[in-house]
Order: sequence, then structure tokens, then C-alpha cells
Amino acid sequence: MAKILVTGGLGFIGSHTVVELQNAGHEPVIVDNLSNTTEDVLDRITSITQQKPQFYKGDLTDRAFIEKLFDQNTDFEGIIHFAAFKAVGESVEKPLEYYHNNITSLVYLLQQMRDNSIDNFIFSSSCTVYGQAEKLPITEESPVVPAISPYGNTKQIGEEVLQDAAKAHQLNVIALRYFNPIGAHPSAQIGELPLGVPLNLVPFVTQTAAGVREQLSVFGNDYPTRDGTNVRDYIHVVDVAKAHVVAVERLVARKNQEPFEVFNLGTGTGSTVLEVIQAFEKVSGEKLNYKIAERRSGDVVAAYADTQKANKILGWQAEKALEDAMRDAWRWEKKIRNK
Ligand code: WQD
Repeated sequence: MAKILVTGGLGFIGSHTVVELQNAGHEPVIVDNLSNTTEDVLDRITSITQQKPQFYKGDLTDRAFIEKLFDQNTDFEGIIHFAAFKAVGESVEKPLEYYHNNITSLVYLLQQMRDNSIDNFIFSSSCTVYGQAEKLPITEESPVVPAISPYGNTKQIGEEVLQDAAKAHQLNVIALRYFNPIGAHPSAQIGELPLGVPLNLVPFVTQTAAGVREQLSVFGNDYPTRDGTNVRDYIHVVDVAKAHVVAVERLVARKNQEPFEVFNLGTGTGSTVLEVIQAFEKVSGEKLNYKIAERRSGDVVAAYADTQKANKILGWQAEKALEDAMRDAWRWEKKIRNK
């Protein structure tokens, strides 16, 4: 059993990770500034596991808050760091807010780790660091290319900060590069919270089916893929959450082979946008209202993971398929719409 600080623990992937940490017998402690979630997620987590996690409301760019948090908790065995702004488009409009929030909070956390002799850190990274990879499937050795958004750049800078900090301060770090996390907890107690117009595909699909959105626009069907629409590696959020438990246990048990390790988190299978829509229609029995629209700038044609490193070295692999994720996403959408 390990006491683990989970920053952004009331968010989409964070809340699912808190549930899986509790299921594995650990003690997650949540910090969240509620900038992109609501506090009732805490009760929803509790309704799944019957264990209410300790929660501190606060902002990780507030140095005094962080110092107080670590004064009150001197026994963290690791940190899983989700707290960050993550909207690609918004980051283009507000780069300074993204660099301040995502990088300053990381540096403040690492300074506390150094000063409190905490040395295990899991970083929420993203396949966005690969851009449009030359070779598919994408391995961890695929080159990191110049980011096309400040959001993506904060992930790249974050990894570089962590590499330097791991060397200088004997930290053990694992960066998990997510492909496309989707879906919701099968209990429909937690899922992707719809704050504003969704930028990501799957919440837009379920909100369209629920009548919250008029129609889904498929951003381009003239790409060089099997049906002309983009290919992505959609991974169930519960599988992503379980990978975080395996990763933090790896560090707590000192099983890591390097001070800084990177793992892709995907299913290894690519699905097109139209295939996602077909999977949704199959599991929901709904006919989705969509149209083909213009391409969205910044979209890569195709991205899906080579999962061998995570399978063999981390000892983890995704267990749920696209249809499972679409079924759970739909169940969650209906739950929050009281349908
Ligand atoms: C998927 C596909 C769109 C919406 C981004 C970030 C990544 C991660 C996940 C945080 C694309 C198409 C989408 C719509 C559509 N975020 N689409 N109509 O862009 O692969 O990844 O979110 O970690 O870092 O880059 O995900 O869900 O936005 O798009 O046709 O209304 O769906 O063109 O092909 P993306 P997405």
C-alpha cells in the first residue's frame, strides 16, 4: 500500500486513476483546483470504491499552497501528475497561460519532491509529441518533433525538465504518452465532464446522439487512409488508469531500469473517425447525425501506438476494445443527461 499524491485527481483520467489506485489497495490523495471539473466527482469516486479519498482544493502554481500540502503530508511515496491545461486550440490563443500553468506547477512540484526526499513521479504526457510520425505504428523511439501547439510544447518541455531533474536529484520518473483516451467508468459514475463545446471526437459523438449538439462535423474525408478520415488509437480510460497504477508500483518497488522511462499508452489498433461512428451506432442502436466538413488544421493523418514496450517492460496492456469504450461513453452521456 502506498500513499500517492494525484494532482488533477478529479479530472477525466485522474479520477479513473484514483479509483484504480484504491482498487489496488493504495491511498491516493487528490489535489485539484477545479478549473476543469467539479467537486462532486469526489463523491462519485467514493460511490464506486466506498473509500473517500483525501482532497485538497488548490492551485499548484500557488507556492504557499504546495508548501503547506507537503508540510501536512510528509509520507507521499510518489506523485502522479495530471493537473494541466489540455485544450490544443485554447493553447494557441493563450500560450502564456499554458506555459505558466503547465510548466510552473511542474517545477514547483519537483522542488517540493527534492526538498522532501520524494523520488517517484509519473508524468501525464501525450502522443502529440510525435506529431505526424514517419513510421507507424509509433514506438517510443519515434522522434519527438517540434510541437504544433503550445499545449503539445508543454508536454515536450515537461519531459525535458523531468529528464534533467531525474539526473540532478536522483528522481525516478515515468512519462506515459497517451494516445486517445476515451470512454468512462462502466458504473457511469465518472467520465469525461462536458464543460463547454467538446473539442474531442467522442464526447461530441455522444452529445450529438443525446441531442445536446445538433450535428457532428467529420473534419475531412479526403485523407490518404482506408476511408479518407483520420486514424487514431482510441484507448479506454480505465485501461489508461490501470497503466498508471502499474507504473507507480514499478517505481515504488524500484523496478525501473532508468531514472527516466517513457511508455506509449495505446491499444496498438488504429480506428478511423467513420469507424468510431460505426462502433457508436452499433453499441447504442442510435443513428448518428453527422456531415463531412473541412479538414481541421493541425490534425495528423494517422497515429497509433506500438505497444510492445509497455506490454513487455511495464507488464501492462489495454484490455478493452473500441466498442467497450463507446458503450461506456454512451452510458455516461445518458446518465449525466438523466436519459
Ligand atoms: C480525433 C479525430 C479529428 C472532433 C487531441 C490532442 C491529444 C489528446 C487527445 C490531450 C481527429 C476528428 C474531432 C470533431 C472530428 N489531448 N474530429 N470532429 O486531435 O487526435 O488529440 O485530443 O491529451 O493530445 O491532440 O483528438 O478527439 O480532437 O480528434 O472529425 O468534432 O477526430 O479531426 O481526426 P486528437 P480529437
